[in-house]
Amino acid sequence: MAFDPESFIERQVGLLRNEIGNEKAFAATSGGVDSTVSAMLAHKAIGKRALVAFLDDGLMREGEPEDVVGKLKGMGLNARLYRVQEPFFRALKGLTDPEEKRKAFRRTFYDTLTGIAKEEGAKYFIQGTIAADVVETKGGVKTQHNVLDQIGIETSKEYGFRFLEPLVELYKPEVRKVGEKLGLPADMYQRRAFPGPGLSLRVIGEVTPERVAVVRKATKIIEEGTSDLSSFQAFAVLLSDKATGVEGGKRKFGEIIVIRAVDSKDAMTAKPTNIPWKRLEEIRDRILAEQPSVVKVLYDLTPKPPSTIEYI
Ligand code: XMP
Repeated sequence: MAFDPESFIERQVGLLRNEIGNEKAFAATSGGVDSTVSAMLAHKAIGKRALVAFLDDGLMREGEPEDVVGKLKGMGLNARLYRVQEPFFRALKGLTDPEEKRKAFRRTFYDTLTGIAKEEGAKYFIQGTIAADVVETKGGVKTQHNVLDQIGIETSKEYGFRFLEPLVELYKPEVRKVGEKLGLPADMYQRRAFPGPGLSLRVIGEVTPERVAVVRKATKIIEEGTSDLSSFQAFAVLLSDKATGVEGGKRKFGEIIVIRAVDSKDAMTAKPTNIPWKRLEEIRDRILAEQPSVVKVLYDLTPKPPSTIEYI
């Protein structure tokens, strides 16, 4: 049977309203389509008692915290921005193993958010986990930050909240349809996917403010350079290896940036976007000119599988 976003919205809003009653709920959003749609459902169910929180954890893209919170407020949501960079960089300091980094992010994310939610007097916690997140985490591909109960983490015991996940049965294309029906602006429901742990998934090796700044700048250049292409995601990755370059006739040992752009429907499989060569050269030139620490720019040709979309 074809997916009907209207009856989905009606059902989920009813369920949220019944469950939450007169209490307050806390909805975390990264501005991505999943968490924004789930926050919208919460808002539709309980209005201003749904507090929509955006954490500026230092791992977001340029201008993203202010931009997202401004848009959410513009849509009438009770949205707030919390500046919490320090605990994230502290937790990630010295870590290089991908799964250790993911788990450190997850722990800090929930400790920080639930700390704020308690101060705000919320009893429920609403998040935008979707089916693909659960499948990948349960399947052992990687620990997605927002999959908890499904892998045996008892959220009520661990965090003292009831976690509600209105989108957990859906895949990305259905979530986009729900977003459209809810009246989200097209640039939000069609937005390219961006993971909750943000740029930390795109820095191989240690995640430091300085290394995140490099990947943030390169990401902006790649996003701008591919904005007219139909990529599911297009972004930069900073490798942990370095390479020898040459500047003014002298050796320069510098950083390596990978351009990753993929076409996909639901993130379960993906293939590299066919970016025209000239465009790749323009992107490369901008990265080299604007990020002098970089000496090599690579383009990743690998589909998923065997690769995954992100690098950790
Ligand atoms: P992979 O790298 O497994 O990614 O092919 C599949 C999709 O999931 C996103 N992703 C995440 N999203 N929290 C998220 O919210 C996470 O921990 C996470 N890990 C991967 C990734 O960007 C891609 O869209």
